[in-house]
Amino acid sequence: MGIRNLINITDLGTDELFQMMNLADDIIENPSKYSETCRGKTLGTLFFEPSTRTRLSFTAAMMELGGNVLGFSEAASSSAAKGESVSDTVRTVGCYSHIIAMRHPKEGAPVVAADRTTVPIINAGDGGHFHPTQTLTDLLTIRREKKRLDNMVIGVCGDLKFGRTVHSLIGAMLRYENIEFVLISPVELKIPQYVKDAMDKANAKWTEVRTLEEAMPRLDILYMTRVQKERFFNEEDYIRLKDTYVLDLKKLEVAKKDLTILHPLPRVTEISTAVDDDPRAKYFEQALCGKYIRMALILTLLGLDKEVK
Ligand code: CP
Repeated sequence: MGIRNLINITDLGTDELFQMMNLADDIIENPSKYSETCRGKTLGTLFFEPSTRTRLSFTAAMMELGGNVLGFSEAASSSAAKGESVSDTVRTVGCYSHIIAMRHPKEGAPVVAADRTTVPIINAGDGGHFHPTQTLTDLLTIRREKKRLDNMVIGVCGDLKFGRTVHSLIGAMLRYENIEFVLISPVELKIPQYVKDAMDKANAKWTEVRTLEEAMPRLDILYMTRVQKERFFNEEDYIRLKDTYVLDLKKLEVAKKDLTILHPLPRVTEISTAVDDDPRAKYFEQALCGKYIRMALILTLLGLDKEVK
């Protein structure tokens, strides 16, 4: 089998996604079965941008599979600070590891990386482009909460322009039957045209609205996102837009009783902390699902998924 990378969620077929989620479910049920599966394997984590969940859940995932982890958590502590190219960094770390998860502010950096090394590359987020392992996390969380991935209305709210988690999630959900999207954003942060084109091509129903209130009653899933300061060129625009949406208990009064509230996190002000105790808030469960699906992904890309009895 050739080297498998995960650059975009579309690199995985629908059957493969299904198998990977089944594997994650089995890991959740039977963790001890998997505790030695990556013995002798090393994961490289190359994070040129800050992260809490993605880097640490990858680290926890590899440790719980019995493997080792090496890497860096900021460009400043790597030789990138001395001008080393992504290609050379990745080629070098490929000498010390069996699989690499990398996050980089430049769109396309993981594609360059995949071209320069012989170990699998996992895109852990490239600029405003893609974040496929967040999407795997989101799919597993939705499937565990709803017991299905079809027939639902999904509201996505906040920064839909730069929000790579939203772009990847929509791309993935388009595979499933009867998914409708309600896109909730200020005009300045509307979803890119290419995502609209993809929804149209898949004959998915979608609408754009300005307020959470008008969308709320119909939603099965509400996917909140942060307005990302680091993607703005102009601080004035960021300050003007950052508090456009704040989900609070009052707004949830008209929501379905079985709404699932997700957020890739980190959160700033867009979900009131009072919402955390509402049984519909599932964003910390989502963060936990991130560890299990990354365990399943590592096993799959290393070709070890079939070896566990
Ligand atoms: N969801 C997510 O990517 O979080 P981090 O930036 O903390 O990794």
